[in-house]
Amino acid sequence: MTLKAMLIAGAMAIAPATGMAADLTIGFSQIGSESGWRAAETTVTKQEAEKRGINLKFADAQQKQENQIKALRSFVAQGVDAILLAPVVATGWDEVLQEAKEAEIPVILLDRTVDAPEDLYLTAVTSDLVHEGRVAGNWLVDEMAGEKCDVVELQGTTGSSPAIDRKKGFEEGIAGHDNLKIIRSQTGDFTRSQGKVVMESFLKAVGGANICALYAHNDDMAVGAIQAIKEAGLKPGQDIKIVSIDSVPDIHLAMAAGEANATIELTPNMAGPALDALEAYLSTNTAPPKWIQTESRLFTLKDDNKAIYEMKKDLGY
Ligand code: AHR
Repeated sequence: MTLKAMLIAGAMAIAPATGMAADLTIGFSQIGSESGWRAAETTVTKQEAEKRGINLKFADAQQKQENQIKALRSFVAQGVDAILLAPVVATGWDEVLQEAKEAEIPVILLDRTVDAPEDLYLTAVTSDLVHEGRVAGNWLVDEMAGEKCDVVELQGTTGSSPAIDRKKGFEEGIAGHDNLKIIRSQTGDFTRSQGKVVMESFLKAVGGANICALYAHNDDMAVGAIQAIKEAGLKPGQDIKIVSIDSVPDIHLAMAAGEANATIELTPNMAGPALDALEAYLSTNTAPPKWIQTESRLFTLKDDNKAIYEMKKDLGY
């Protein structure tokens, strides 16, 4: 622990409630803004830091891992008190995480995990990414009730933990239900534009009449795909069932219009639990659990999607 962090820890031990976090400088390496959900995470993280008087140094990596590695090295050189990292992909972090560890700067992972030794980061605040995929698969099993259904899948960013785990979870969710088959699967990089482009290629390659359902690893790709389905003269949500993940406002608008069927909520507030864990660690030197899990909730057409849209539309998505 750096001298400064020790001083802060000492002060926080004496007067925890006074928000001594105010003296903390924290670096936040964000992936970019590929989706409404990511934009909301950035907004909420800045709000959580401001609420605690934390000096947050924000770095937007424009989707590139090399930019995130550069940002982490710069944070270490600046001697920040801690680092928040949303890792764009799962591998390739050992070296730079080792450097942060040697500088005694705790690193907390937000919303995605890394394939690196656990002692290289303080904790990871994420949802159960496999579970999200399983819930989507189980939903489709129930929705189709044994009826034959060929599925196309829009994957997230290649090599990212949500893309890897949400695919695995969905396959587990539909396993044993031979009426459900994934006939096409390709990355849409978590963006609306790519979701549209790849769905257009699925419709062209397979023929819209032969696609029964779309599973998208995030809502933004699903929203793009809905456009492509409409332009192909088909009814999204009816001719092609749609299940995705994030619960951004626009998917609830689509669900309210019957153009999408289900979404699994991912809270954009990863920073709250992360900063709570950091403050406790700095004030009591007790390490948090290696994984702090956030809740996942399924929304369907049974929910009041218009009201959910209204409730979420100004939250920074
Ligand atoms: O890591 C979480 C994922 O990242 C979200 O589901 C997606 O919208 C974002 O790109």
